[in-house]
Amino acid sequence: MSRSPATTPLIQAHPQPLRAVPSELDPTRLPAHVAVIMDGNGRWARQRNLPRVMGHREGVEALKRTLRLCSDWGIGALTAYAFSTENWNRPGEEVSFLMTLFERVLARELEALDREQVRIRFLGDLEQLPPGLQELIASATRRTAENSGIHFNVCTNYGGRRELVQAARRLADQVARGELDPANIDEQAFAAELQTADEVDPDLLIRTSGEYRISNFLLWQLAYAEIHITDVLWPDFNEDALLRALNDYQSRQRRFGGVAPLSA
Ligand code: FPP
Repeated sequence: MSRSPATTPLIQAHPQPLRAVPSELDPTRLPAHVAVIMDGNGRWARQRNLPRVMGHREGVEALKRTLRLCSDWGIGALTAYAFSTENWNRPGEEVSFLMTLFERVLARELEALDREQVRIRFLGDLEQLPPGLQELIASATRRTAENSGIHFNVCTNYGGRRELVQAARRLADQVARGELDPANIDEQAFAAELQTADEVDPDLLIRTSGEYRISNFLLWQLAYAEIHITDVLWPDFNEDALLRALNDYQSRQRRFGGVAPLSA
């Protein structure tokens, strides 16, 4: 969702923190929404002579840690890139492992997520996922829909370009049906067709494993995000690494295309 004054984000940007924010951070200037590209699982496993899939398994633990810390510190939303539209090109065995892992993790963690008031959603083309996973996703989404805590978005079979094309197609359909005047298509109307329609845009994007790419992630929504890239491999991402990312974020001066205010 764009930040024009006319838009009212439905999420509370900063729910009450459940645990004191570390003193090195300014609790009033935390990002409302953190997005993360969880990269480096395969390399983490290779460094330990383990099969790649062990890196993914450990990656789940890193994701749970990150979600808990963000939730505890009152960050409003965490959006994680779990599986891209391009990830189907990986070896079949790895893709099956990942799908089974998503199912197992969701089934195992749902109770605790719900108890901790997490609202979980999966963004992406979900119809292409295995039917069992689709059912679990639907029930987890329903069960946690009214929860008041952090918004946890898991991008699964997600591609930013595909999301933009689908939004454009929906708007074109409305025009073709005579329900929408093309002159009324503005940024707000476009953002409303995205899967993140009721979410504020990410303020901070974290990418692990030292790669300097966006990789087709949230192409519209990241327009003004601050980007933090760390060499840490995703399975090693921990409280220290998140603190470094948040400190880096707080050291930036966000201008949204304007100019820096004159210092007093
Ligand atoms: C990228 O590392 C990571 C992935 C494609 C998968 C990430 C998925 C999880 C951590 C599980 C999330 C689960 C749920 C249910 C939310 P890579 O394989 O590209 O690593 P490499 O670049 O070192 O090869």
